[in-house]
Amino acid sequence: MLKYLPGAGMPSGRAPIAFLLALAAAPLFSGTPPTYNKDVAPILYQKCVTCHRHGEVAPFSLLTYQDAAKRAGLIATVTKSRYMPVWKPEPGYGKFQHERRLTDEQIALLTEWARSGAPEGNPKDRPAPPSFAEGWQAGEPNLVLKAGKGYDVPADGPDKFQCFVLPLNLEQDSYILSAEFRPGNRRVVHHGVIYVDETGAGRKLAAASADGSYPCFGGPRVAATGLLGGWAPGTIAAPGDPQLSVPVKKGTDLVLQIHYHPSGKPETDTSAVGITYSGPPTKGKTSLIMLNTGIDIPPGESQYLAKSSVTLPQDVEVSGIFPHAHWLCKDMKVDAHLPNGDVTHLVWIKDWDFNWQGGYRYETPVRLPKGTRVEMAYIFDNSDKNPRNPSTPPARVTFGEQTTDEMAVAFLSVVLPSPADVPTFQREMRLSMLADQLEAGDLNRIRGRIPGLNAARVQEMMKMFDKNGDGKLDAGERAALIDFLRTMMSSPPSQPRL
Ligand code: HEC
Repeated sequence: MLKYLPGAGMPSGRAPIAFLLALAAAPLFSGTPPTYNKDVAPILYQKCVTCHRHGEVAPFSLLTYQDAAKRAGLIATVTKSRYMPVWKPEPGYGKFQHERRLTDEQIALLTEWARSGAPEGNPKDRPAPPSFAEGWQAGEPNLVLKAGKGYDVPADGPDKFQCFVLPLNLEQDSYILSAEFRPGNRRVVHHGVIYVDETGAGRKLAAASADGSYPCFGGPRVAATGLLGGWAPGTIAAPGDPQLSVPVKKGTDLVLQIHYHPSGKPETDTSAVGITYSGPPTKGKTSLIMLNTGIDIPPGESQYLAKSSVTLPQDVEVSGIFPHAHWLCKDMKVDAHLPNGDVTHLVWIKDWDFNWQGGYRYETPVRLPKGTRVEMAYIFDNSDKNPRNPSTPPARVTFGEQTTDEMAVAFLSVVLPSPADVPTFQREMRLSMLADQLEAGDLNRIRGRIPGLNAARVQEMMKMFDKNGDGKLDAGERAALIDFLRTMMSSPPSQPRL
C-alpha cells in the first residue's frame, strides 16, 4: 500500500485506477504510522491518566506503553464512540475550562495506531509522564473537615449515596474563600458535592448515626442555601477569588454528599473538605437555581419534557453550571434568550448519565444582560426501552430525592456587581419562577416556595386575585399576585428547598 501513497514515487501521467482507489482509502497517516511514544502518549497523558492510573476511579492504568498497547483496539473503539474520555457537554454549547473532548484528528490517530499494530516507536520521542499534585490543589486550607471515620463501601452491590454533616463551629458570621473536596479513596469515590445548611436539618438527620452521616440519593435532603463546590474524577480545584467569598452565618453546617461506586473489593473511605476563610466579598456571588418541582412522568412516556424559566432582573455574569437530574433524564439543555433576540447556549448534554454528573466552569464568565430569559428544558425517558430506568415495569415518577424519583435542576453560579444585590436578586428569581409556574397554571407548586404559604392559603389567594371570577388567573391578575407576593417577601429569602 505504501508505494501507492503520494510522494512515494508515483509515475507521472496516467494514474492507474488502483492508485486512485488507494488514495480514496488512504489513511490520514500516510507513510509512517503513528507511534506510542511520539503520538499516542501525549494524548493519553493529557486526556486519560487523570482517571486511568493506579488508585484512581478507572479500572486500569494507561500510564505505560504496555498498558496502552494491550488495549489499543478497545481504546480506538471507546474514543471513536466518544464513550471515553468522559465529557458530557456538547461542543458549541458553552465553552468550558478543562474540556476533555478529543479532537477528530486525535481520534483518527488512535484508530490508526491500533490498526497499525500499536507500534511503540522511539523512546526518545516520548514526553515526560505527567506528575500529579498530591494534597490540596487550591492551597493549604485553614480548616480540614473529615467526612466520617472510615466509611465502609462493600465489594459490590448498588452504589451508595451518603451525606456527611461537617459542622463549621463558627463563633461568628464568616466568609468562605474556597471549599475543596479531597476524595479519600479514589477507587470508590465517584463524586462529592458540598452544600450549605443553615437550618441544622442535616444534623438532625445524622443524629442517629455514629459518624455524623445519613443516606441521601438525589440531594442533601435539607433546604440548602447553595453549593460550595463539587468534585468528580478529573476535577481540578481552582483557588478562591477573594472578591467572591461566600458569607456563612454562625451555626452553619456543611453537608457533603458522596457517591460511592463499589470497586469489586471491600473498601473504606475518609474524604475531606478543606476550608479557607477570607474577608467579606466585594462582589455578589450566589446560585441561581433553575428548578421544576412539578415533574410527573407517566409510565411508558419516552419524551417527557420538564421546563423552567426565569427572567433576570439585572445584568449578571454566569461563571459555571451544574445540571442535575436522576436516572430517567436523557437530554438537558439550558439556554439564555437575550433581550436583543440572541441566544447564548449555557449547556447541552445529549446523553445524561447520573454516574457522570459534575459542574462545569466557563472559560470566560458568560455575561447576560437584564431582561434575559434563562430557559431550562430537560427530557426524560420513562419507557422500558431506557436501560437506566430503575423500575421494571416503568412506574409513575414524580419530583423527589429518592432513586425512583426525578429531579430537574440546574445550579448556575452567578456573580453580581455588589454583595448587596444578592437578596433582591434571589427574591426576584423566585418571583420570576413563580410567575412562570402560575402561567403554566400550576398553582400548587408555589406552596413551600414562600414561607407560610400552605394549600389553603394558595386557594384563598387564588380567589382574591381572580377578579373576574373565571377560576383562573389571566396575565393582569397574575402580575397583581406577584406584586403582592413581593411585598410578602420583604425579608431576605432563604432559597427554595431542593
Ligand atoms: C474522568 C475519568 C476518566 C477519564 C478522563 C477517562 N476514563 Fe476511561 N474509564 C473511566 C472509568 C471509570 C471506566 C470504567 C467504567 C466505564 O466503563 O464506564 C473507564 C473505562 C475505560 C475503558 C474500558 C471500556 C470497556 O468497555 O471496558 C477504556 C478502553 C477507557 N476507559 C479508555 C479511556 C481513554 C483512552 C481515555 C482518554 C482518551 C479515558 N478512558 C479517559 C474513567 C475515565
